[in-house]
Amino acid sequence: MSAFDQLFKAASAARENAHAPYSSFHVGAAVLTRDGAIHAGCNVENAAYPEGWCAETTALGAMVASGGREVVEVVVVAGGERLCTPCGGCRQRLAEFAGPETSVHIAGPEGLRRSFTLGELLPAGFDLDPDGNAAAGEA
Ligand code: THU
Repeated sequence: MSAFDQLFKAASAARENAHAPYSSFHVGAAVLTRDGAIHAGCNVENAAYPEGWCAETTALGAMVASGGREVVEVVVVAGGERLCTPCGGCRQRLAEFAGPETSVHIAGPEGLRRSFTLGELLPAGFDLDPDGNAAAGEA
């Protein structure tokens, strides 16, 4: 099975568990790390609306909690007719662990719709070097 197929399967399974009673928009995401591990997540909404978070954030949190740090491929799965590209905050969170060439595949329940690189989604994202100096990076 290709990396995309495995990520799509993991993201779709996580999407089944989405907690989205307010938007009814169920999202699943999965990230592949350099060492071959896959971590998936779903969106988790809250009655206090701004306290909810996205599927990509859940997937990254699961990755970090199990020791993963380097994302090499991403899949997001959602329904509806439009492309479910990651929100601005999630693009920045992805950029913490992925490079500008990292593929971010946007899928519907039926399969792949369109692929982007993270650099396309987040040009000149915020970056901070170990000395605490900000720099506008490629992604
Ligand atoms: N959402 C995600 O989980 N990922 C995205 O890429 C875009 C939006 C969620 C947030 C909220 O629970 C619902 O979709 C509607 O915005």
